[in-house]
Amino acid sequence: MQNQQHLFNLSEEITYLNGAYMSPQLKSVTEIGISAVQRKAQPNQILPEDFFSQREVLKKRFASLIQANDYKHTAIIPSVSYGIANAANNISLQKGDEIILVDEQFPSNVYIWQEVAKKNNAIIKIIYPPKEFENRGKKWNQNILDAISENTAVIALPHAHWADGTLFDLQAIREKTTAVNAMMVIDGTQSIGALPFSVKEIQPDALVCGGYKWLLGPYSIGMAYYSDAFNNGIPIEHNWMNRHNSEDFSGLTNYQDRYKEKAAKYSVGESSNFILTPMLIKALEQLIEWQPKNIQEYAKNISSHTIKKLRELGCFIEEDTYRAHHLFGIYLPSHMNLEKIKSALKKQQIFVSYRGNAIRVSCNVYNSEKDFEKLLNCF
Ligand SMILES: Cc1ncc(COP(=O)(O)O)c(C=O)c1O
Repeated sequence: MQNQQHLFNLSEEITYLNGAYMSPQLKSVTEIGISAVQRKAQPNQILPEDFFSQREVLKKRFASLIQANDYKHTAIIPSVSYGIANAANNISLQKGDEIILVDEQFPSNVYIWQEVAKKNNAIIKIIYPPKEFENRGKKWNQNILDAISENTAVIALPHAHWADGTLFDLQAIREKTTAVNAMMVIDGTQSIGALPFSVKEIQPDALVCGGYKWLLGPYSIGMAYYSDAFNNGIPIEHNWMNRHNSEDFSGLTNYQDRYKEKAAKYSVGESSNFILTPMLIKALEQLIEWQPKNIQEYAKNISSHTIKKLRELGCFIEEDTYRAHHLFGIYLPSHMNLEKIKSALKKQQIFVSYRGNAIRVSCNVYNSEKDFEKLLNCF
């Protein structure tokens, strides 16, 4: 995989290592967005079938990216909190059941669990990383596996942690949850698109992704996958489009109890969104052409030298097998001053994020090894 900076519109004066905050937009996606905005000036050109056709294309593209056999298990969502809530509201919880979360998850995969725990007298169990850095990722994963028991109703976690890219071994976690009949809900926002993921292999109960980070899409649209376990659930809202026979515009007041098949009921109202939907389709088509495994490999190649040097300087960066390459956290040794590094990065117009105690660095195919050299110089 080669550098793809020419396909984006990033300013040459900055170094953008912050795709985990928000990806820059592909020029091709911007173009589609602009023409989509203009299309509404001629509403006669927006046909009844357009309300349905593009949503199906988007769901098919997402299913292909995540290797799901049947695109009907996917849904279009406006945010991660919405997509996780669709799952959480449809998991049956008894008094004393445990909901497992990992430490410092993004709030969209926390608040709803607190809510359903309160409603059902269930218990939230947070799994912390070890305090010491040695074998941190490995031990954190082991702590998670050890915590899953007959009391576990559901585990909700990311694939790569949003603050420092720690990887969670979803395959092992799936095996353990299956053995105790617990569900697994994944927030894929910081991984899907840049890190390979296969529904066929992992078989999550639900997978929810924001669209504006590694899916390279616009803000306010995302995608979710819901397994057969959710086929008979109740969606957050009751949009007409998700009901049987909604294509028949003249018969819409023949109200239907039946939903469209499988996860269709979980799509947000107005999911035919004539601006955002075609933009996200275009972005997913580009990702499918590139393939997440190549993006991951590219990220590894451009960052590995700097990571080696930062470790030599005494920084902690998780072992390669327990972290993502497109997103990682730098934990400083005590002799380094975070404020000084922050101000050096700012002066050089290098954009990263600060999450928890980590400096979060995130890269994609618009970055190069030079960007990492610039980063290194600030240490
Ligand atoms: C892991 C993760 N999940 C979700 C989100 C966004 O959630 P929402 O779409 O509910 O705003 C973010 C944003 O930074 C994130 O990092």
